[in-house]
Amino acid sequence: MSRENKFETDAIRTQMERSEFLEHSTPLHLTSSFVFEDAEDMRASFAEEKERNIYSRFTNPNTSEFVDKMCKLEGAESGYAFATGMAAVFSTFAALLNAGDHIVSARSIFGSTHTLFTKFLPKWNIETSYFKVGEVDNIESLIQSNTKILYVESPTNPAVDILDLEELGQIAKKHNLIFIIDNCFATPYLQNPIKFGADLVIHSATKLIDGQGRVLGGATVGRADLIREIYLFSRNTGPALSPFNAWILSKSLETLGVRVDRHCENALKVAEFLETHSKVALVKYPFLKSHPQYALAKKQMKQGGNVVAFEVKGGIDAGRQFLNHLKMLSLSANLGDTRSIATHPASTTHSKLSEADRLETGISDGLVRISVGLEHVDDIIADLKQALAYV
Ligand SMILES: Cc1ncc(COP(=O)(O)O)c(C=O)c1O
Repeated sequence: MSRENKFETDAIRTQMERSEFLEHSTPLHLTSSFVFEDAEDMRASFAEEKERNIYSRFTNPNTSEFVDKMCKLEGAESGYAFATGMAAVFSTFAALLNAGDHIVSARSIFGSTHTLFTKFLPKWNIETSYFKVGEVDNIESLIQSNTKILYVESPTNPAVDILDLEELGQIAKKHNLIFIIDNCFATPYLQNPIKFGADLVIHSATKLIDGQGRVLGGATVGRADLIREIYLFSRNTGPALSPFNAWILSKSLETLGVRVDRHCENALKVAEFLETHSKVALVKYPFLKSHPQYALAKKQMKQGGNVVAFEVKGGIDAGRQFLNHLKMLSLSANLGDTRSIATHPASTTHSKLSEADRLETGISDGLVRISVGLEHVDDIIADLKQALAYV
């Protein structure tokens, strides 16, 4: 589905057909199933001779509106919406892979995705080979005759490293791999991976797409032939997004652009503040000139996103002291909320990784991840400043 208008306009004006009540804002269709005119209508609908809603595990007007918007905003042909981001990740891999297939993935990926690759997919004899973010040159040596998928996140979670999507797209094309990107940190507002050769784009809509910490959701969008496989798998296995959450998320997309603009503006100011602080050893933010992939971030992203990673001098104890003295920032597992959040990945989201694996993915013991929210940036910085005084 190509974009007809500018981003903000498609995010607002992509809407299901109005009902007889001529409502202005999209209504909520909380129904598990739909009715048919007669036996022939029902047969033809099941045979997919007609585009009809049958059952909300398959499609629902609210989930379809959310998917249509996501497709337009990502420049994708087709999509399917899931109950969570992880349901999107799992269903995408389960639908497209056969026993004995192989994945090549960046080492820096979300913790649960890593657990899926290392603990669950091997049950079906599906193995994964990893490359480090800085070792894209190494990818071709990892590709085997049974490799089917190349998988990355950019920016990565939580170390906010950037991968060269165009280069990865070329490698995937050369070796006939399905190139899949988890675009959760960037959102379709900041980065459209399909432009760089991605076949599929996955989102945890729980993050900036909802943006207000209310609901879980996910989506996979991209090539219609691949989405068809994912749809058939999902309509039979049941990871569908609820119509209520789809309604919330579709409304959230209406304000994604303005929200993300402010998130990024605040995050850059927070990163600049941290960079000058004497107690901070290192700051990682894609749009800081000191970021190792600054030029690449500028090339493929509109702005730097809302996640800032930094290391407090003094390692794990100093990091804990810092977190314990925050007054306003929440200690919470989510990100992309209006409320700023601080986390300590080594002891939480990435605690299942071995120390060596953690260090390889840029997660030192003292690394703190800030999801910069929409409170006034002066108040966010004031809270960081007073907590750093205790380190
Ligand atoms: C990059 C990334 N992908 C996927 C997920 C999983 O999303 P969800 O929590 O909606 O299942 C998360 C966060 O939880 C994430 O940060």
